[in-house]
Amino acid sequence: MDDIDLAESHLLGWLSTVGLDAHYVRAEGDYLYRLDEQGREIPVVDFAGGYGSLMLGHNHPEIVALAQEMLAAGAPVHAQFSRHPYATELAARLSAIVSRETGEDETYNAVFANSGAEAVEIAVKHAELDRALKAAELQAEIAEHIETARAAVAAGTAAIPVEAACAAGPDAAALAADGIDALAARITEVNAARAACEPLLFALEGGFHGKLMGSVQLTHNAAYRIPFAALGTPARFVAREELPTLPKIFEEERVDLLDLDVTGNEISVVTRRLPLLCAFVLEPVQGEGGIQLLDAESAAQIQSACAAAGVPVIVDEVQSGMGRTGTFLAGTGIGLRGDYYALAKSLGGGLAKAAVMLARSSRYRPQFELVHSSTFAKDYFSTTIGLKVLDLLEADDGAAYRKAAERGEHLLAMLRSVQRDFPDVVGDVRGRGLMLGLEFQDQSGSEIEELRQHAEGATLGYALAGKLLRTHRVRTFPTASSPNTLRFEPSIHIGDDEIAQLESGLRDVCALLRVQDGAGLLEITPAA
Ligand code: F0G
Repeated sequence: MDDIDLAESHLLGWLSTVGLDAHYVRAEGDYLYRLDEQGREIPVVDFAGGYGSLMLGHNHPEIVALAQEMLAAGAPVHAQFSRHPYATELAARLSAIVSRETGEDETYNAVFANSGAEAVEIAVKHAELDRALKAAELQAEIAEHIETARAAVAAGTAAIPVEAACAAGPDAAALAADGIDALAARITEVNAARAACEPLLFALEGGFHGKLMGSVQLTHNAAYRIPFAALGTPARFVAREELPTLPKIFEEERVDLLDLDVTGNEISVVTRRLPLLCAFVLEPVQGEGGIQLLDAESAAQIQSACAAAGVPVIVDEVQSGMGRTGTFLAGTGIGLRGDYYALAKSLGGGLAKAAVMLARSSRYRPQFELVHSSTFAKDYFSTTIGLKVLDLLEADDGAAYRKAAERGEHLLAMLRSVQRDFPDVVGDVRGRGLMLGLEFQDQSGSEIEELRQHAEGATLGYALAGKLLRTHRVRTFPTASSPNTLRFEPSIHIGDDEIAQLESGLRDVCALLRVQDGAGLLEITPAA
């Protein structure tokens, strides 16, 4: 029995083929440690940073001390359905930081969660509740108007001109002649059919929002999404090039309900737009999609089209947020103003599993709290750690954000110098702050069969990451949806020496790629 690995051993087996199946026994700062055959620790510099969860590094001493104190003091980790002053404080502080950055005089209500995908799904669920309630409010208003018209006809103070009934159907004359009851029945029938339309979700092409049943519908990568397409509302993906025409895209999806207007002694049939567009979901910097920055012009196009059509904007800052790009929200610098925000990853300080959905208070529907819950979310442990993370980020007037920007500049300059020296091998370097990517040129035309196979199987980045780990003791990963791109998301404490170590590793990989030394790149020897 001991030999059987029942915990995703298929994946581990695959990792071993590229030499990424290391077993780490300890973590500290920007280092993970594994043991050599003599049991001595081998340090590995970690640029993968827990997929962006380690803004403050592994096992930050103050966060560890706080966790230890909480546990030693018998913290009430689970006290569901009771007062949660720590969560209240965390919500207030998150709201204040978001308002400060966006410059908007509005608060944000928080619903806590345990993972990024969950926070995204909560935002979508809330947006859908809000949309459905608005649709129901509109239908109730129409029902009231119908009654007003009926009363006016009964009292003989208003009549239905034939042309007014035109909007209700081709048989307008007959309808008008049949009187208000027939017209009202027709409107109710037409509206019921139209209101049954599926809500529409929009997402930016290339985005990643999670892999649960709902969030995977918003994740663009077809390999993740298509097998489960039947399980959720499909998203309409909008390409960046399409953004200038977003108002038209929204208009094409327009569905109107019919309403009755009584003005003076005339009744007319008017149309009212059904709120059918549930939300537009996007990342300000696409992480898993290959470190793709959204520009201010695109952000403005999304913002204005959504505002005009009444579509809420859900900004997924799960990876880009918590200060990683030099501001608390990556969207701040490009003028993005979300109606909803999803935060996770570094909110848990590298120790807790924590996430949160923030909703603009003017949109917030308190009844959401009665239809959504989670056993683990909002617990004492994770929210108290979240507060400590904010303390550490906000200390010294936001020194941590400045550090993220400064360290990011240094790392970016190094990546650019590698690109300059190996333009034949490195296609692009991009990103902001500590969310950076280096994209290798396509190797599908390589003479080396193994390299070609990796390029064709979308595993080249993993193979190169394996080489960096084996030979240079540097840990990095590609972005799965852009498999030639390695991403670098270390903590704000990443040192010059560690960046230099990455540089020599990257230069070695680039030199081997340049001369197409397949054996040098891919030969898997036991880890040094
Ligand atoms: N949204 C974004 C922008 C993400 O980057 C991720 C996860 C999620 C949502 C889902 O979060 O895993 O906590 O449920 N990104 C990881 C990555 C998996 O590879 O970048 P989760």
